[in-house]
Amino acid sequence: MRRAGRLTAVILRELRKACQPGVTTGELDDIAQMIIKEAGGSAPCVGYGEPPFPAAICTSVNEVVVHGIPSKNRVLRNGDIVTCDVVAELDGYMGDAARTFFVGNVSEEKRLLVERTKECFFEGLKKAQEGNRIGDISAAVQACAEGYGYGVVRELTGHGIGRQMHQEPDVPNFGKPGRGPRIKRGMAFCIEPMINMGKRNVVISDDGWTVSAADGLPSAHYENTVIITENGPEMTTYEEGLNG
Ligand code: MF3
Ligand code: CO
Repeated sequence: MRRAGRLTAVILRELRKACQPGVTTGELDDIAQMIIKEAGGSAPCVGYGEPPFPAAICTSVNEVVVHGIPSKNRVLRNGDIVTCDVVAELDGYMGDAARTFFVGNVSEEKRLLVERTKECFFEGLKKAQEGNRIGDISAAVQACAEGYGYGVVRELTGHGIGRQMHQEPDVPNFGKPGRGPRIKRGMAFCIEPMINMGKRNVVISDDGWTVSAADGLPSAHYENTVIITENGPEMTTYEEGLNG
């Protein structure tokens, strides 16, 4: 798990550098595919689901919340925000993480949205302790986001992870403290707030994947794979100062 997480972290570190005006989201996918191949890993998103997802990573620009499909025709422009969501498999285990990156200079309101989405993740992470329940995480994320007046996306959730990218339990970004599965040592799951600047409602596009904010306002996403150890929660996909 740790090595797959480390690979995921390295990919996000490189993608952060690559997110410059003029670059296409298809080129970001090429970078991720190359790093995974060099490491001897694989990209479980390729061919996943129905219709089969056609790329290794999701690239979600501005009002796109998650599952944007990389394309050589989608050029990043100054002022965009782009979420790169990466799943990498190494030696049979998965790492899954997402960051929303700034392209050039972004507006103050977009910058705050991205920073506060990360803050929501860390509020949730604090509750990822043995003996707590998943609902404790969910409620902490929701309180943080709604405290800023943002919309919390409900249609998609975090998830258990291990040999598969999606396992039990679901980890919603809304809910009540004290509810849901008990958190135990040895569990692994992704905490991943998807936060809209406007209302929480989303729409899925005709491509069957792209999820966008219904009101067209920007959306941010922040995700790490977390394992519950005897010393508390450990993020396998986080590199201080590099992909933080
Ligand atoms: N991190 C994304 C998720 O958990 C990965 C999606 S891969 C895709 O939903 F193939 F479904 F796009
Ligand atoms: Co995920």
